[in-house]
Amino acid sequence: MKLTSIFAHRGSKGNRPENTLAAFREALSLEIEGIELDVHMTKDKQLVVIHDETVDRTTNGKGFVKDLTLDEIKELDAGTWFSKEYEGEKIPTLSEVLELVKPSNFTLNIELKNDVFLYEGIEEAVLKEVESYSYIDNVILSSFNHYSIRKCLDLYPTLETGVLFMEGLYKPWEYAKYVGATSIHVYEPAAAYYVQMQEANSIPIRTFTVNKDESIEFFIRNHIDAIFTDYPEKALGIRSQIEREGNK
Ligand code: G3P
Ligand code: MG
Repeated sequence: MKLTSIFAHRGSKGNRPENTLAAFREALSLEIEGIELDVHMTKDKQLVVIHDETVDRTTNGKGFVKDLTLDEIKELDAGTWFSKEYEGEKIPTLSEVLELVKPSNFTLNIELKNDVFLYEGIEEAVLKEVESYSYIDNVILSSFNHYSIRKCLDLYPTLETGVLFMEGLYKPWEYAKYVGATSIHVYEPAAAYYVQMQEANSIPIRTFTVNKDESIEFFIRNHIDAIFTDYPEKALGIRSQIEREGNK
């Protein structure tokens, strides 16, 4: 039976400042399968790992990522807002994260955050960066911008891709195939519905963001392909318990 993969959402967001090297190191210390992160582009076209369009919520700075240079972004503290213990954490570049993750066997889900600002050239830049680390076979590229997914597939036809969406669309596995994507990444309530449908199994389904114990258990027992969770260590414990039951 299919074992559900666990992806640390924005690193281990529950107990580390999201999308920082501290969060990714924590994820890498666990016996899970993947890490999810979000990518934006700076004013000088550098790829940085942060969730929001602005630096306001997760740093001591202000402004849109697209209006700041990498040097300006590197001045910011991305840890203290979460806890004084993480003072001095920076917004990482995608390259820094690839450097950290490369020695592992982790799957890296790179979410392109280009559904508000399009960040011209982000697809080429991300693929070039991943290829320079020879990590392309360990990457799943996803986005709420499905034109961007299509563009990535045109640039790299064998790329693993996931179309991200929130709603309970009708047969999204058919739609994903139409786009050319290899999987669907869907918001938890819709995923709970799909996972119980036989025909949904024609494509890998990954769901976000699964944090409650009972939801984690539900998806693992229903053999969904993967969950994104802010609490990967807890999810690992629940999965281990279910596995032990299965082996009795
Ligand atoms: O990629 C899954 C999930 O991260 C999408 O939502 O807003 O957390 O990036 P968000
Ligand atoms: Mg994300």
